[in-house]
Amino acid sequence: MAAVVSSSAAASSLAKAVQELAINTSAPPEKYIRKEGIGGSPSEFPYLDIPVLDLSLLNSSSPEAEEELKRLRLAFSSCGYCQAINHGIDTSFLDEVHDVTREFFTLPMEEKKKYSRDADDIDGYGNDTVYSEKQTLDWNDRLYLNVKPENKRKMKVWPENPTTFRKILLDLTAKLENVNEILFKAMAKSLGLEENSFLKQYGEDPIVLSRFNLYPPCPTPDLVLAAKAHGDASAMTYLLQDKQVEGLQALKDDQWYKVPIIPNAIVVNVGDQVEIMSNGIFKSPIHRVVTNPERERMTIAVFFTPDPTSEVKPVDELIDEENPKLYKSVIDYTGNYFKFFQLGKRPLDALKV
Ligand code: OGA
Ligand code: NI
Repeated sequence: MAAVVSSSAAASSLAKAVQELAINTSAPPEKYIRKEGIGGSPSEFPYLDIPVLDLSLLNSSSPEAEEELKRLRLAFSSCGYCQAINHGIDTSFLDEVHDVTREFFTLPMEEKKKYSRDADDIDGYGNDTVYSEKQTLDWNDRLYLNVKPENKRKMKVWPENPTTFRKILLDLTAKLENVNEILFKAMAKSLGLEENSFLKQYGEDPIVLSRFNLYPPCPTPDLVLAAKAHGDASAMTYLLQDKQVEGLQALKDDQWYKVPIIPNAIVVNVGDQVEIMSNGIFKSPIHRVVTNPERERMTIAVFFTPDPTSEVKPVDELIDEENPKLYKSVIDYTGNYFKFFQLGKRPLDALKV
């Protein structure tokens, strides 16, 4: 990994959370400004026509299951996104997840900083690591917590305040594991594959990583991004969107679209590693987050990533003369992802045949 710039003015301004920068500011620091803008005003982008999938149907043996599998295939091979409903996670539980997220981010700064990430680490509370003077920073504070494998949990950065935080996080990821298994099997079946074709590559000891996002209001939303454009390094990503404030945008045919809010639906997107496994049939969407001039936004993302010792590659049955292999095999894709990302390259492109 590139050396972390530690002695510059940029690094010292980073000691501040974006939440602190956002107080009484009329102009964000230079390091956050995109001189070229973000291609428009955040509210003016059109909405993405994002398929809504009924997960209760996928798991059934009803005739509707076949229809739903077709819709899933279409969703993930076009925009790479869906909004999952009837996913089996109670609304009251989702409310608790949003509540503890809000409680955590509204704790006093000294309290939150007890959970700060170490400079060379991902886990914990913090914001962008500065790798280079040229990097433009994201208007976002976040808390990253590795939930699985269990021996990778860094308990010292797991909040004990609010007191229910840890239990709710464990419950959330356990519930999403069920959803993830349903979707992995359904994705395979939708392509006519044996249902464990993708799950096999997911491996014995997969990674489950959570990311709690706070996007403070930003006075210059046309010039600052809350999260720069990226594809997720995961296999699959599950996002609990803020129920009131929009911000997520997806790139389709070179145009940015807003992802609409459907309260209590889970936004699901294909990650780079499912694009590899499916030999490019399922698309890992490029997405970004825009800022809002008045309102803060909070989201919770959970990334499901194959065991880093497991080989990830296009499923053999998907390759023939007409459909040549598009991606090379890879192990520990995520471990190598940030290196490419910070250099401004799409990490997935490095694996193209
Ligand atoms: C992410 C992400 C979107 C959002 O955390 O990778 O894309 O709306 N989040 O918070
Ligand atoms: Ni993302």
